[in-house]
Amino acid sequence: MKVDILSVAGMYGPSFERLEREFTVHNLWQAPDKERLLAEVAPRVRGIQASGSSSVGAALIDRLPKLEIIACFGVGYDGIDVAVAKRRNVIVTNTPTVLNDCVADLAMGLLIAASRGIATGDRFVRAGKWLSGNLPLQTKVSGKRLGIVGMGRIGRVIAKRAAGFDMPIAYHARRKVADVPFTYYEKLVDLARNSDFLVLILPGGKETFHVVNEDVLRALGPKGMLVNVARGSVVDEAALVKCLQEGALGGAALDVFENEPQTPEALWRMDNAVLIPHLGSATHETRAAMGKLAVDNLVAHFSGQPVLTPVP
Ligand code: 8YV
Repeated sequence: MKVDILSVAGMYGPSFERLEREFTVHNLWQAPDKERLLAEVAPRVRGIQASGSSSVGAALIDRLPKLEIIACFGVGYDGIDVAVAKRRNVIVTNTPTVLNDCVADLAMGLLIAASRGIATGDRFVRAGKWLSGNLPLQTKVSGKRLGIVGMGRIGRVIAKRAAGFDMPIAYHARRKVADVPFTYYEKLVDLARNSDFLVLILPGGKETFHVVNEDVLRALGPKGMLVNVARGSVVDEAALVKCLQEGALGGAALDVFENEPQTPEALWRMDNAVLIPHLGSATHETRAAMGKLAVDNLVAHFSGQPVLTPVP
């Protein structure tokens, strides 16, 4: 008899196929009648497959009496109520490390895109505007001060990439990190004041909700640029729109938003905003590695082995 797994979010196709070979998978997120499916399978479900942006709260966890493990296809697990899972002795796993390169690559790409007008220039050419003039001058990247918010695994890889652009690096995190050589700012607003670019790569969730508020954006200033590859929830999006509109902030390059897939329409019209649809880990290579790790965790657990990547 195969173990029953509840899938609450999409994942990399080939990994989902493997999941279906190894387990009996109940696809909740695509079920036409979710309530009916849950009522039928809840007593048997022993594992959940979730994603970085899915919500697995107390209500769902409490409905599954045999639940043993929640495997998240993503490094961020802010949508999963880990405290409730812990109380129920439910293991939570995520997919750290395998996406570091891609998220860091994209952070640099966004930073350069915002600063050098890559997206604006692309629109300019397509609209035939080059025929009647040049794009206004943009802003140099190399040698500029980079502030990184969050100095975990991905933050370190971003710093490594930025070193190649001769950028002096400083950071803010909950506490000073022992083994990195960069300047530490205890207050985020101070880091913002002393940065040309502020890259966000901190976890989402209640503790970091709107930490990038209007004060921080104003401290980054009219020439400063914000790059968010973390979670939309960490930025006060209304304040961000306002600061961009007023020219209090120079620009923003955003991979994540507060209410995905909704994005503020006011940003669509701004050339100093680069907007992409949560692509941090979205490459064939990285999604395959994430999918493998997410399924490996489930397979390990249900063969009596320790999971590979439990969340702390
Ligand atoms: C998503 C992410 O998980 O890893 C994360 O935390 O935000 C992404 O990699 C991915 O989009 C899968 O939904």
